[in-house]
Amino acid sequence: MVKHANWSARSTFLLAAIGSAVGLGNIWKFPYMVGDNGGAAFVLIYLIAVVVIATPVLISEILVGRHAQLSTVNAVSFIARKSGASQYWRYFGYWGFLAMFLIMSFYSVIAGWILAYIPKLATGSLEGMNATQVSGLFDTLLANPVELAAWQGIFVIVTGLIVMRGVNDGIEKAVTVLMPTLFLMLIFFVVYSAVTADFIGAFRYLLNPDFSKLTPTVILGAIGQALFSLSVGFGAMMAYGAYLPKDVNIPRSALIISFSDTLVAIAAGFVIFPIVFANGLDPSEGPGLIFVSLSLSFGNMPAGTFFGTLFFLLLTFAALTTSIGLIEPVVAWAEEKWDVTRKIIVFVICLVAWLIGLATVFSFNIWSDVYLLGQFVTFAEKTPFDLIDYFVTYIMQPAGALLLVIFVGWKMSGDILRKELVSISNTMLYTGWLFSVRFIAPLIIVTLFILGIFY
Ligand code: PHE
Repeated sequence: MVKHANWSARSTFLLAAIGSAVGLGNIWKFPYMVGDNGGAAFVLIYLIAVVVIATPVLISEILVGRHAQLSTVNAVSFIARKSGASQYWRYFGYWGFLAMFLIMSFYSVIAGWILAYIPKLATGSLEGMNATQVSGLFDTLLANPVELAAWQGIFVIVTGLIVMRGVNDGIEKAVTVLMPTLFLMLIFFVVYSAVTADFIGAFRYLLNPDFSKLTPTVILGAIGQALFSLSVGFGAMMAYGAYLPKDVNIPRSALIISFSDTLVAIAAGFVIFPIVFANGLDPSEGPGLIFVSLSLSFGNMPAGTFFGTLFFLLLTFAALTTSIGLIEPVVAWAEEKWDVTRKIIVFVICLVAWLIGLATVFSFNIWSDVYLLGQFVTFAEKTPFDLIDYFVTYIMQPAGALLLVIFVGWKMSGDILRKELVSISNTMLYTGWLFSVRFIAPLIIVTLFILGIFY
């Protein structure tokens, strides 16, 4: 079996893992989910879910990967054998692959929108536009399937070129440059929004919860978002954990990853919502929120051409380090399974992801009134993209996380757990983690599934 590379330092693992976690989920999806789900109450549940569910799941994923040093399917199978559990558990890995393909498929389309905006912003063509013109511009882009598919293709190719170069030469080098740049740019934009737009309005909206807004759908959405944002439930973090040297402290690394990821999501809220409120825009605009709100603001601010281009570059970097993390797990598995070069594997994966992505591309134009499951109330008026997004967030991800915590909490040998978490194995933190993995996370996820069926 192939021997995988190791991260050259703990910091590169952290950058890569944070790079996988921090993505469009934080900067594009989090703000519109907050907007769609009534603001601060959603944020509060999201924060609780990060601490009590998503971070314990993250620790579980990293430790499985690190212990086996194999791709997700083979890691679970190896540990199941060692712990005397069924080999069926390895299907967790395939489930995750399917989900990651689906995520990559729409992720690359949204990243394509971002790429399409860069030349628009850089050439100053948004300057002086009003709200109607800005929305019109976005609608024109969405109406053009060829343009969308082309930008999506470019994004997939760039991801592929980085992953082809391997863990040390490709992924590490990319994240070492992209992540620090991204953080700097984000800090700059938070300060900029705070100084120039409606910071107080955003503060109230994000941090002053109105509990009457809490419905099962909002809670389900917030927990799903916490898992999505931390990239857990599919084995993405397990794959990165497999390249982790044995002496790295897993709980500490997981805390750093989840803290950074949450901070970026909240920071993104503090960049977007001040602008939304200062311009009287609708926070529940949906997936177009950042495109419309930000373009309006960049089109009308001094040096907006420069700042706008910079911000969309930031989004591209965030998306790129995530898409790398979406395909690497499948690449690692294929390397173990077949005797073909990494280049060929990456090429095939990218091609398939691009093809599936066309379903999302068409959902915004020629298939915009194709409702495949329209006969069910829950899916009425859901385009193929809405369906993919729904299945990934509300079904595949919670199911994946549930399988994982049952495997780690109930099936995996306690010796392996204590060995991998040696830094905390004699402390209350270990007990707390195990309690969450065994009881809290599974119970909450099952309850939500049941509620989800009835609401
Ligand atoms: N966490 C990523 C984001 O927020 C999305 C992701 C989910 C990546 C699951 C990998 C696995 O953009």
